[in-house]
Amino acid sequence: MLKIAVLVSGGGTNLEAVLKAVESGDIPDTEVVGVISNNEGVYALERAKNHGVSGFCISPKSFESRDDFHKALLGKLDELAPDLIVLAGCLLKIPEEMVKKYSRRIINIHPALIPAFSGKGFYGLKVHEAALERGVKITGATVHFVDEILDNGEIIAQKAVEVKEGDTPEVLQKRVMEEAEWVILPEVIAEIAKGNIKIG
Ligand code: GRF
Repeated sequence: MLKIAVLVSGGGTNLEAVLKAVESGDIPDTEVVGVISNNEGVYALERAKNHGVSGFCISPKSFESRDDFHKALLGKLDELAPDLIVLAGCLLKIPEEMVKKYSRRIINIHPALIPAFSGKGFYGLKVHEAALERGVKITGATVHFVDEILDNGEIIAQKAVEVKEGDTPEVLQKRVMEEAEWVILPEVIAEIAKGNIKIG
């Protein structure tokens, strides 16, 4: 049984795709052991609750120092003891200690075809604004291992999405989510669960 912990920061649509795929068996032999948000009151925690999965808010705002926050986050992960950590719409800079401890056991979904529109400042809607600004005809999403550099780890899967005439950033974001993010993130986790993609 693959145990996964999912880190979120907002709406949780990628989390929803993973939870549904686990329930349907598209992701076999897997249990979501917990969802951790670094922001309070986000809908992703509602989604976890609706699916009977434990949700936790561990926000830097609740701690005296960044160090204390990191200790609390790592402590919760120790408690959950996941085999794999999934960053799903997670806007948190992952502490180096966590990257080291879970080397090749943290994956992230990025809403562009890395290396395009990735790295510092490229997150959420800003990614799609930059893609439209540049005038690319194709964009998409990437699942990659997380290492100590933002959006830099080994690429595991990518899926291309067409940019259409008159797209707004919101319309493009929705297409990239529906046609790419919500498809390749569950697919990658399923391949990990089947042992076809090695982790650790
Ligand atoms: C999405 O664009 C996702 O690719 C990015 O964060 C945004 C929100 O994701 N990582 P979610 O709806 O919270 O899963």
